[in-house]
Amino acid sequence: MELRVEQGNIAESDVDLIVVNLFAGVTAPGGATGAIDRALNGAISRLIAQGDFSGEAETTALLYARANGGAAGDEAADEGGLRAPRALIVGLGSSERFGIGEIRRAAAVAAQAAAKLKGVKSMATIVHGAGIAGHDAAAAAQEVALGTLLASYRAKQYGREAAEAGLASCTVVEYSAAKLEDVARGVTRGEAIGRAVCSARDLVNEPANLLTPVEMAARARAMAAEVGLACTVLDEAAMAKEGMGILLAVSQGSANPAQFVILEHAPAGSSEAPLIIVGKGITFDTGGISLKRTGGMWAMKDDMGGAAAVIGAMEAIGRLGVPRRVIGIAPCVENMPDGKAFRPGDIVTGMTGKTAEIISTDAEGRLILADALAYAARFEPSAVVDLATLTGAIGTALGMHIRAGLFSNDSSLEERLMAAADRSGEGLWPFPMDAAYEKPIKSDMAEVKNSAGRAGVSSSAKFIEHFTEGYPWAHLDIANMVLADSRINAETPKGATGYGVRLLVELAEADAS
Ligand code: BES
Ligand code: MN
Ligand code: ZN
Repeated sequence: MELRVEQGNIAESDVDLIVVNLFAGVTAPGGATGAIDRALNGAISRLIAQGDFSGEAETTALLYARANGGAAGDEAADEGGLRAPRALIVGLGSSERFGIGEIRRAAAVAAQAAAKLKGVKSMATIVHGAGIAGHDAAAAAQEVALGTLLASYRAKQYGREAAEAGLASCTVVEYSAAKLEDVARGVTRGEAIGRAVCSARDLVNEPANLLTPVEMAARARAMAAEVGLACTVLDEAAMAKEGMGILLAVSQGSANPAQFVILEHAPAGSSEAPLIIVGKGITFDTGGISLKRTGGMWAMKDDMGGAAAVIGAMEAIGRLGVPRRVIGIAPCVENMPDGKAFRPGDIVTGMTGKTAEIISTDAEGRLILADALAYAARFEPSAVVDLATLTGAIGTALGMHIRAGLFSNDSSLEERLMAAADRSGEGLWPFPMDAAYEKPIKSDMAEVKNSAGRAGVSSSAKFIEHFTEGYPWAHLDIANMVLADSRINAETPKGATGYGVRLLVELAEADAS
């Protein structure tokens, strides 16, 4: 979908659908909505008076203009007509609780309603929240663009009839010439982030036979070339040279060789201490010799959701030109059972020289992260954040699709992540990291073991922490966030959610300022 920005009166927009809004409880619409109401001879006021629309959040009303609406050049709006054949009113909910997230939601609800109208290919919208609600025009426009793109996402189809094409264009119309520049800047930012979230969704939705580690690395490389990031990919020989024996143990059973992707955004060649983001990239998790049960195993194509978030975030960070050095690391590995596969009881040594005893080959995420986090140390980072679909238990603790788990050994980084979660609307919730959580993962024969019965999610994080060295670190367990059984809301469809991209972009930007 194409996004455009225009200055003018939305009543004169020559599109299939125009979108205006209404706060809950308003009976006499003002602003652009008032102008459309007058152009429709009071149809919106009558709709409200009849009790059929009240401006509640997540509701819409559709109105049809006179068939002979204004033609080009005449005073369409004043004559009681619209250039567009339809107008959609989207409810904004209570004006007292109208934050940036509500703007994104309203835009998403409108875009989703538009997508259901077969005859609508082009739409125009005002910037929700930039009028009487008083939000910063750039920030509001960013959320309008973002919500529109997130709601308009369609998963790729394979050999079945392609889904309806959907919206081809959305024009953001701003009446005030003074605000136009801010609106344009906001839309550009929202577009960069929205497209990056959709890239992450594409990666997660793609089946594991097509999206192998080699293919993931190729996608990352192509993205980096387009956006202007540096990209290095280590193959298994290079990883062996680095001493990544723990990561390579996981890869041993797969015919698809592992790839270690490093993306770097260094504005004007800056050499400051980088922020590093690391994503678990298990392209498929069978569990290995500790084989998973059959039911639902297909969903383990999402086990590279952390890597997808990192690659997506790097795409947005590059496009936005975030004034800060950021490095993205994505270890991409397939976890398969095989004659060559690693086994429970194996003891493996990674980059740091530290040893791990394998109790379950299904606790493989923490193993590939051990070497990825050890590798990160060479950049002397200011902070390292890893994202991983690490445990099913995180969904038991926090429920699905509300907040991911946050584990950190640095209170400043934890605070910055919680703030980024609030601003981006991608929820997090902190878990404890007491030293006592290390006890269950003590091994009899090695330094640590990769699994322990009923040890709790914090012990999984403790295993990862064991391999971090000399930098503030946080781990996000996103296993409850990356793949949705059914649509969650207007901006989050069934399937891959793209969770983490917005959060990481917020963190990088806050870190830059
Ligand atoms: N990839 C899984 C975690 C997962 C589970 C992600 C459900 C998404 C949905 C991970 O590698 C795994 O298998 N974890 C085990 C850990 C256990 C063996 C210690 C788990 O959660 O059961
Ligand atoms: Mn597993
Ligand atoms: Zn896994």
